[in-house]
Amino acid sequence: MLESSTPAVREMPLCGVKFRELHVDKGLVVIRGACRDDRDRLIKFYESLDSETVYERFYHVVKDFSSYVDSLIEGGALVVVAELNGVIIGVAEAMACREDYAEVGVVLAREFRGRGLGTALCSSLGSACRVAGIKGLVAYARRYNVPVLNIARRLGATIKRGPEPDLVAIEVCLED
Ligand SMILES: CC(C)(COP(=O)(O)OP(=O)(O)OC[C@H]1O[C@@H](n2cnc3c(N)ncnc32)[C@H](O)[C@@H]1OP(=O)(O)O)[C@@H](O)C(=O)NCCC(=O)NCCS
Repeated sequence: MLESSTPAVREMPLCGVKFRELHVDKGLVVIRGACRDDRDRLIKFYESLDSETVYERFYHVVKDFSSYVDSLIEGGALVVVAELNGVIIGVAEAMACREDYAEVGVVLAREFRGRGLGTALCSSLGSACRVAGIKGLVAYARRYNVPVLNIARRLGATIKRGPEPDLVAIEVCLED
């Protein structure tokens, strides 16, 4: 008799990886890889962001975050989350955009900014991308976005003109 086989569901690449812990005034924040079962918490996090933050992160209005999160999960993105007491408060993700290169985005809940968490998310994601064999990262940001430009410089990025007048392209080479 033929056995029916269900295709295995692919787990997210960084699921189970714990990068670091940081003490902030509100408790212990864990920086870890995201798993499939974070889906609802990821959607809840993105839906909690104010419109200005959504614009800073995505440069346009986003109406359907469940599709976006599903594209990360099904697209094999490398996703790192910052979690406090089981609640996601920040996300950095890298999605393959051309061979061996990935486009990166990062966003942190407003009330947790300015404590080094954005830097921790980006450096953890950068390390994971290097281990995964990704050669280079690109991110787009508005040219006056001081926090992300500071993080970029700290990670050795090159800042170039972006595809639109108020955007810059941030490029990080991960090859030695
Ligand atoms: C970008 C973002 C993730 C940074 O998170 P964060 O936790 O506040 O960043 P950090 O605390 O690690 O600080 C990073 C740097 O910015 C500086 N910084 C933080 N907040 C700042 C502010 N309001 N004004 C000026 N500088 C600031 C810090 O001093 C630090 O610089 P340093 O390394 O030279 O000391 C956060 O601002 C955010 O979510 N912004 C909205 C989304 C976005 O813009 N994403 C980028 C496009 S993909």
